[in-house]
Amino acid sequence: MQIIPDKVPRHIAIIMDGNGRWAKQKGMPRVLGHRSGVKSVREVTEAAAQVGVEYLTLYAFSTENWNRPPAEVTALMSLLVETIKGEIRDLNKNGVRLLAIGDIEALPASTYKALMDGIEKTKNNTRINLVLALNYSAKWEILHATKLLAEQAAAGTLNPADINEELFENALSTRGIPDPELLIRTSGETRISNFLLWQIAYAELYFTPVFWPDFGKEELLAAIASYQNRERRFGKISEQLV
Ligand code: FPP
Repeated sequence: MQIIPDKVPRHIAIIMDGNGRWAKQKGMPRVLGHRSGVKSVREVTEAAAQVGVEYLTLYAFSTENWNRPPAEVTALMSLLVETIKGEIRDLNKNGVRLLAIGDIEALPASTYKALMDGIEKTKNNTRINLVLALNYSAKWEILHATKLLAEQAAAGTLNPADINEELFENALSTRGIPDPELLIRTSGETRISNFLLWQIAYAELYFTPVFWPDFGKEELLAAIASYQNRERRFGKISEQLV
């Protein structure tokens, strides 16, 4: 798959979907789908770094995922802890800096601890930023930011008239991270599911029927190639884009 090196998105966000269906198709328990999904996380992170993507954000656990059967929630949390702990060496070897967005303080203590440890131990890596969205939902994030600003206004340290896009963005959990230019969702679903609603205002959307455990380097490059073939007008007309 041919891609244009100087038109690679700085930030790609992915809704990793279809682990459960992938496993079911093979007559395996859902949790084995999630385990196979970790392989895709590894492959896609490396492929993204190779082509020069600076930020890769993965929707790993939404605030709505707590409603899944308790055994699956527990298995997912264990898989996260195991994966983060097990990958730190490789993350450092490959220059991957781990970051997280979402209500991470409300995660189970062992998950929170593994995550914070991973973030701390990879903080000097500069090749790519791997942002895990954990206990994340865009509505939670927007409400959280709104409360922060309202508290500052109530305390008299913020004039409501000064609230602009930049100030609001600085109150989101993605503070300091550029907006994604490309959002990918696997498994054939064509929904956003409460992911990065503010940040994807101008993102190109790419949907593929491939289940997440089957999504690898080739599929990532195909998504980037599709992105590169689109004309991003940001409200202008074609002739204004030079
Ligand atoms: C969606 O598939 C997937 C998830 C909710 C979890 C994704 C988690 C992983 C791939 C492991 C996380 C590991 C790291 C380190 C990021 P689904 O269960 O919704 O599939 P279905 O729609 O077919 O049921």
